[in-house]
Amino acid sequence: MKQINYLVIVFIGATLLCNCSAGKKTTSPAASIPSLKDVFKNDFAIGTALNTAQIEGKDPKAAALVEQQFNMATPENIMKAEVIHPEWNRYNFEPGDQLVSYGEKNKIRINAHTLIWHSQLPAFARQIQSADSFRLFFQQHISTVAGHYRGKVFSWDVVNEALNEDGTMRKSVFLNKLGEGFVTEAFRMAAAASPGTELYYNDYNNEQPAKRAGCIRLIKMIQAAGVRIDGVGIQGHWHAGKVPLQDIEQSIIEYSALGLKVMFTELDLEVLPRDFQGADVSQQMKNSPAMNPYPNALPDSVQQLLARDYSSLFKLFLKYRENVTRVTFWGVNDGQSWLNGWPVPGRTNYPLLFDREFKPKPAFYSVIATKQASAN
Ligand code: XIL
Repeated sequence: MKQINYLVIVFIGATLLCNCSAGKKTTSPAASIPSLKDVFKNDFAIGTALNTAQIEGKDPKAAALVEQQFNMATPENIMKAEVIHPEWNRYNFEPGDQLVSYGEKNKIRINAHTLIWHSQLPAFARQIQSADSFRLFFQQHISTVAGHYRGKVFSWDVVNEALNEDGTMRKSVFLNKLGEGFVTEAFRMAAAASPGTELYYNDYNNEQPAKRAGCIRLIKMIQAAGVRIDGVGIQGHWHAGKVPLQDIEQSIIEYSALGLKVMFTELDLEVLPRDFQGADVSQQMKNSPAMNPYPNALPDSVQQLLARDYSSLFKLFLKYRENVTRVTFWGVNDGQSWLNGWPVPGRTNYPLLFDREFKPKPAFYSVIATKQASAN
């Protein structure tokens, strides 16, 4: 049955390819394929993460695909505190401003990422000793950065990864210096600095039951304080063959019940060996031939597994299209994915829908086919 499904997907993909290239003038390879943002336009926004070169306009091949396929973008690094706020009184808004004008030109809305995160903090912030000085940094950072992009970005990941796997609060510098109320305060300040912007809590593994319960506790705390939170982001750094579909479905149901929008904010599916789940950027492993099994090409069996998993995910997203407002892939193509360098440096990974030549993979067509099968 699965084999037949897969053949149907490939057939639909091939048909789409033929139809489009027969009828339209093709200016680039990307012009001959269906567009994710158009196919899912009545369901949810489709986003991508953009790296620094892409934001600076130095990657024309990526630009062609991005403009064709995506209607939202998240900066992979340039709005993180270490880049945007390198010193007490110095802010580096140039790359972010470039991203905003790129988005305006191409009808791509920006999800700004991220105001408060324990990782990629500037050195000066990590060295602050007193709680009072740290609070000042916290306030100034949020009001200055969110204020700068007021009216210019669609949404902010206000707080990123504040939770442990068991649902308790992560022992971050924010928790140590400010107590758990920092989460509510961050949302209060972001709402004041940028009133028209949607505000989200974002994390990985927050579809897992214990972490989900912790996430719900945080959200209820923010809501009980009368502070605005619009949505929750589930990052979606999962493994091919091990996508936790039931937990994801339960999470969509439970988060929506709190009146929140649900987003999949950093989707990629790991196909290489790893002995842990999630996306804790501080976890590292050593490279070896066994850890990098596909240096030249992805075997067909794994390619098909990836296509099936992406298909199952998008079927689920479509089932909850009233609640799921955005699906963002963490990178444009396989060659540009952070998973080539984390948690093992120097690997050849294949987690996305487009290959290293920006060509659509079978997983791309399996995603497109979910919409055709749903017929609405
Ligand atoms: C990653 C970037 O992709 C890398 O380029 C960077 O070196 C480390 O951070 N969760 C997040 C993202 O919220 O910001 C992280 O992005 C991936 C995990």
